[in-house]
Amino acid sequence: MREKLIVANWKMNKTPLEAEEFMQHFPKEVKGISGIEMVICPPFTSLVQLATLMRDTALMLGAQNMHWEKEGAYTGEISPLMLKEIGVKYVIIGHSERRKYFGENNAIIHKKTTAALNCGLIPILCLGENSEERRSKETEKVLKKQLFGALDEIDLEEEKLCNIVLAYEPVWAIGTGTPASGDEAAEVAGYLRSLLKEKWSALAGNVRILYGGSVNRENISEFTGKKDIDGALVGGSSLKESSFAGLIKAVFNEGRS
Ligand code: PGA
Repeated sequence: MREKLIVANWKMNKTPLEAEEFMQHFPKEVKGISGIEMVICPPFTSLVQLATLMRDTALMLGAQNMHWEKEGAYTGEISPLMLKEIGVKYVIIGHSERRKYFGENNAIIHKKTTAALNCGLIPILCLGENSEERRSKETEKVLKKQLFGALDEIDLEEEKLCNIVLAYEPVWAIGTGTPASGDEAAEVAGYLRSLLKEKWSALAGNVRILYGGSVNRENISEFTGKKDIDGALVGGSSLKESSFAGLIKAVFNEGRS
């Protein structure tokens, strides 16, 4: 059974003070929630502080990016070892904003995914087509290239593959208020799982697949109710304690009904 996973991607939002304010209320709002892994990915500047504030809570810490080397002359970068040492468990890799604004390609994403796994971090590998690719019906082709570009030739033993999380994030749905429909997302998640099965048959059933792109408390159940979707990567709706807690409670209540 795959445990549900809800991940907040704060992107470049919240100063350390604002992050602290969020943490004064949010853990109380989700107290008593069980059976759902809850992860917050703040900017790097709030990671250490959040690690401390999360100590007696069920929340887990994620980073939004990292470099693939453990150390070295890479001005401005953060290494997986640094993240690991402060208690980071998850790391978002290959978000479409990094692909678009910072030139990350499949080769770079492959190096980062490998490095995360080797350092004991769980990569949340983001995949998704843009609107033009969608219009020309290239979604599957694009996703296949992104998935195998990131994972191919990684020495994927059993436990390593189980430690990867995929996030299907259609670029046209991110931050637009227009999510994919539950059925569209479920079809793509099923396709991604079938690709995993082609290569790593026995384990594909254990990999968690998230949907991301304009998810909120009203529409979350459309996604998490589908067989191949195990949770969500949430941007805008994770920034307010009440809306993010509401979204998590919706998933929790759905699991109980
Ligand atoms: P959004 O962002 O929820 O604001 O659409 C999701 C993401 O980019 O991960």
